[in-house]
Amino acid sequence: MRTSTGLLVLSNTLLGAASARHLARRDAPFDWSSLNSSTSLSWTPCYDAFQCARFTAPLQYSNTSAGDSQIALIMSPSNFSAGDPNYLGSILFNPGGPGGSGIQYILQLDPYFRAIIGPQYDLVGFDPRGVGETTPPLSVFESPAEALQFYATYPLNVNDSVSSLARAYVQAEILGNLTVQRAKDVAESVGTAAVATDMLQISRALGQEKVNYWGVSYGSVLGATFAAMFPQNVGRFIIDGVSDSHQWYFGTQDTSSMLDTDGVVASIFAACVAAGPSLCPIWENSTELVEARVHHALNALRVAPLPIFNNTDPAATTFAVVDYATAFDGLFQSIYFPYSDGPVATAALVALEHGNGSLVYSLSTEAQLDALSQDCTSSSEAFGAGFIDIIAPILCGDAIVDRHRSLAQARQDYAAMRNLSLFADTWYPTTIEACATWPLQSKDRFNGSFQANTSTPILLIGNTFDPVTPIQSARNMSAGFGGSVVLQQNSTGHTSLSGFSTCTALAIREYFQNGTLPAAGTVCQPDTAIFEAPSNSSAVGGVTISLRDDAALGLREAKRALGDGTAFLKRTWFPRWA
Ligand SMILES: *[C@@H]1O[C@H](CO)[C@@H](O)[C@H](O)[C@H]1NC(C)=O
Ligand SMILES: *[C@@H]1O[C@H](CO)[C@@H](O)[C@H](O)[C@H]1NC(C)=O
Ligand SMILES: *[C@@H]1O[C@H](CO)[C@@H](O)[C@H](O)[C@H]1NC(C)=O
Ligand SMILES: *[C@@H]1O[C@H](CO)[C@@H](O)[C@H](O)[C@H]1NC(C)=O
Ligand SMILES: *[C@@H]1O[C@H](CO)[C@@H](O)[C@H](O)[C@H]1NC(C)=O
Ligand SMILES: *[C@@H]1O[C@H](CO)[C@@H](O)[C@H](O)[C@H]1NC(C)=O
Ligand SMILES: *[C@@H]1O[C@H](CO)[C@@H](O)[C@H](O)[C@H]1NC(C)=O
Ligand SMILES: *[C@@H]1O[C@H](CO)[C@@H](O)[C@H](O)[C@H]1NC(C)=O
Ligand SMILES: *[C@@H]1O[C@H](CO)[C@@H](O)[C@H](O)[C@H]1NC(C)=O
Ligand SMILES: *[C@@H]1O[C@H](CO)[C@@H](O)[C@H](O)[C@H]1NC(C)=O
Ligand SMILES: *[C@@H]1O[C@H](CO)[C@@H](O)[C@H](O)[C@H]1NC(C)=O
Ligand SMILES: *[C@@H]1O[C@H](CO)[C@@H](O)[C@H](O)[C@H]1NC(C)=O
Repeated sequence: MRTSTGLLVLSNTLLGAASARHLARRDAPFDWSSLNSSTSLSWTPCYDAFQCARFTAPLQYSNTSAGDSQIALIMSPSNFSAGDPNYLGSILFNPGGPGGSGIQYILQLDPYFRAIIGPQYDLVGFDPRGVGETTPPLSVFESPAEALQFYATYPLNVNDSVSSLARAYVQAEILGNLTVQRAKDVAESVGTAAVATDMLQISRALGQEKVNYWGVSYGSVLGATFAAMFPQNVGRFIIDGVSDSHQWYFGTQDTSSMLDTDGVVASIFAACVAAGPSLCPIWENSTELVEARVHHALNALRVAPLPIFNNTDPAATTFAVVDYATAFDGLFQSIYFPYSDGPVATAALVALEHGNGSLVYSLSTEAQLDALSQDCTSSSEAFGAGFIDIIAPILCGDAIVDRHRSLAQARQDYAAMRNLSLFADTWYPTTIEACATWPLQSKDRFNGSFQANTSTPILLIGNTFDPVTPIQSARNMSAGFGGSVVLQQNSTGHTSLSGFSTCTALAIREYFQNGTLPAAGTVCQPDTAIFEAPSNSSAVGGVTISLRDDAALGLREAKRALGDGTAFLKRTWFPRWA
């Protein structure tokens, strides 16, 4: 009794220390409306150690009488003040999505960015138009219940039944009509060119003509757009997990995102075979056999879905059905973060083989929807952020080409994508398919080329195997930006944040601190393998370094903090955009 009481107190204390900030944030959200928005920045302390401000920008840069937007900003201040010779200015961040919150990104990942970058910069996050605390909000649904009603039947897999693809097609048409009726002006103002212009205005308000930046995933489209629009305002600038921006604006189909997706899966299977049966639960003696085992477990669900019925707490009984589409989606989510999710996903497959679908369900978008619907207490909560109600206005509204497609053409587009990867089944309906019927265009659009000599050369980062931003896209984009360098992180997953590499961390640090780019052709190894005994996971791998103690400590802290931030990144990339 005594022991267990003692343990309880002890673990509460540890838990309290680790999560107090998180809980405080959730339970007592900062009152953003108390901040006056203006075209100069005036910072107010918020969330313990941070500073917050609201910045006024025109809703449309092409028509400044169309109203204003109030952009929410957060800053993790540098240790040095503006007059200090060590102070290097601000870095802006974008977490991707589109629809990810830059406020939450800094709140959740500040320890990681700070440990990698060092103390010389202010780290600045902002909620892009239509997202989070930035106003006016993009509110298409009138309540969480209405959003749930819409998404509960939105197909996560277009090859689930004969009508799935068409169902997604007509639901996107409904969403487009709802958006026109309820949120037209905002939806026309959230395009990437407007957000890129906001970044310049924000930097100027911070006293900088040159924008320093680290954007991941869709943040690479935002970054490339900025660099193409304002090449003379490019400071130290990283785009990481790079999408093909040519295609983003000028493609009628998505022919690039899934180039390496099947390679991702093959590399995870190869890592499994190499790790052996004690570390990889679905181990077989060849990648072909691992693959066959996985498909066998999944295909069994096509004819025999599994029930989940959890009445551990009878007052909070939950139930669900795990079918092929749910499980397939859960496995797709897990390939974004194979270093953390690979062991979980493979254990989930073994559980499936034994008739237990709980674990695979927990990886799926449906489980995320359950969690979101429980978290939402009012319609103003960002229930839909990150799903197609924010993706479509940005992705479809940005397009220069006509992306309208008949249902028959949409089927063709899907079939072409399916030639690249099996995961087109789940990627297609939640991305470009919505553009087939999308009724709106952004008022400010970028219609230029991605050829520019930037005032500072750009650093691009690509993983050898990235499920939705293949390294080929980083190379294509680099070709247009004079002096830019592609750093290849030889890992599997989405963006460099999916797997820690000391070598990548040091390259980023050196670029931000000294402006020095890595040599062209640099390949950085990840510190760990996908399936690895826990005792090895603290090794610093892939690079020979002699670090001063504080730098080594900083990198260990970075690695730990990245682990803590992964749950946030998974929600940001929910359900699956870049
Ligand atoms: C906002 O402006 C009002 C009126 O000028 C002022 O009273 C208030 O202190 C300002 N709030 C902040 C947080 O600066
Ligand atoms: C600019 O916006 C205002 C307010 O919405 C509108 O009345 C006006 O027609 C717009 N001007 C142009 C050129 O679109
Ligand atoms: C920044 O300042 C804080 C408090 O003054 C100090 O604890 C911390 O070590 C400093 N960090 C760096 C990286 O210098
Ligand atoms: C749908 O899935 C089935 C089974 O995997 C496959 O045979 C078929 O080719 C897929 N449909 C398309 C259009 O690719
Ligand atoms: C959506 O709006 C368009 C344009 O007004 C219209 O042609 C179409 O019929 C509408 N769709 C539905 C399902 O009402
Ligand atoms: C792999 O296992 C299969 C049967 O499970 C066996 O026939 C084959 O010889 C094994 N191959 C190797 C290289 O061990
Ligand atoms: C079942 O529900 C309980 C809470 O009622 C929860 O703690 C537990 O994790 C759930 N089990 C599974 C397998 O999801
Ligand atoms: C399924 O596995 C989970 C652990 O992942 C366990 O909690 C649960 O009891 C199992 N369900 C059944 C029906 O065995
Ligand atoms: C984009 O620019 C090209 C030429 O630079 C022009 O022909 C085309 O009409 C423009 N498209 C749009 C939608 O503005
Ligand atoms: C898919 O690939 C096959 C074989 O390369 C080709 O014949 C077919 O035309 C492709 N389908 C589409 C829709 O691109
Ligand atoms: C990448 O890592 C794999 C092992 O995971 C290794 O076989 C390969 O040679 C590495 N490639 C490069 C370019 O370093
Ligand atoms: C930046 O350059 C200075 C001088 O060359 C060097 O001492 C320092 O270690 C470099 N910093 C990083 C992070 O590489």
